[in-house]
Amino acid sequence: MPYHVETFIARIDPIDPDPLPMALAGQVILDGGLVAFPTETVYGLGANALDAAAVGRIFEVKERPANDPVIVHIGELDQMGDVTSEWTQTAKQLAEKFWPGPLTLVVRRGATIPDNVTAGQTTVAVRIPDHPVAQSLIRKAGVPIAAPSANRFSRPSPTNAMHVLADLQGRVDVVLNGGSTRVGVESTIVDLSREVPTVLRPGGISLEELQSVLPQIAYRPRHITDDAVAPAPGTLAKHYSPNAEVLVYEGEREVVLKKMRETAEAYLQQGQRVGILAQDKDVNAFAELTAQIVLLGTTPDEIATHLFAGIRSLDTSDVDVMLVRAPEQTGLGLAVYDRLSRAAEGRIIRV
Ligand code: TXA
Ligand code: MG
Repeated sequence: MPYHVETFIARIDPIDPDPLPMALAGQVILDGGLVAFPTETVYGLGANALDAAAVGRIFEVKERPANDPVIVHIGELDQMGDVTSEWTQTAKQLAEKFWPGPLTLVVRRGATIPDNVTAGQTTVAVRIPDHPVAQSLIRKAGVPIAAPSANRFSRPSPTNAMHVLADLQGRVDVVLNGGSTRVGVESTIVDLSREVPTVLRPGGISLEELQSVLPQIAYRPRHITDDAVAPAPGTLAKHYSPNAEVLVYEGEREVVLKKMRETAEAYLQQGQRVGILAQDKDVNAFAELTAQIVLLGTTPDEIATHLFAGIRSLDTSDVDVMLVRAPEQTGLGLAVYDRLSRAAEGRIIRV
């Protein structure tokens, strides 16, 4: 690894960030360094979005392919001029309704944004995050901040500072530890550069909420690079991948739970270590199994909040296989379903 640094970890109050460490972190960004910080979705790995060398470092430390563009984070609508040359009626409408919040808009790129931010595309992805630490960092730095999720490429996104350190200690200058993130899955990405606004990645703003503003919105998440002009190159099949094999089951609840239990028993009999990501209401189906069980909660929102931490914790306990029941694809359940199907490299077991 060519880029090795001493990682400085600062504990920050997530509701009322202390201005002094925030000012120092802002200066690190201005000096071309990397700062990992909490947003309402997941932790981001931030660099000055107007500094091509600093952005280049993001790709280096994440081991991220250069054809996968990053999201630019701004603090307020007035900063939009730094990012895009064209601010359409639809963009304004969505921004007014959902910003600050977990919605990313793909718009025409402005002249000051370096090529490596957008992977050379004519569009740029932008959002205003809804987290006091993220907002304070952007304000202190005084520049837009380019930030992908603060994990190594193809690993699950980090929802707390420990996850960031597990992947990036010694590679990032500062980690702002503001506790666990609220939403737990990344922002929804909407491409406004097409004729019909199109969701490229489901996330923290549900499809239903978007449809209430834009009834004609299209849903076209990309899982596999089967498209010559893939609009979201980061959305490959192998993503969010733990070391263990992930088995996602879909179908009628009782049938799925029975199948999961039988499968777990079969693996255990072969001496394999089994992990189960379980909705709280399903946990009795796995009673007396010597499997590692992680509880995800009950509602789609709760499951989204706990998903990545659950995958990481089972991975840390070195399971050979992870079993999970697919949630309903409504609300944030759609984003959870998407992340699970990618972790399983597209294979969903229908029973
Ligand atoms: O919630 C989030 O969005 C988090 C936090 C840190 O803000 N960020 C995040 O970034 O998830 P990342 O890099 O892990 O995912 C960004 C996605 C990638 O799949 C990338 O391909 C897509 O955004 N993207 C970025 N610029 C784009 C563009 N101009 N056109 C289409 N897709 C774009
Ligand atoms: Mg990511």
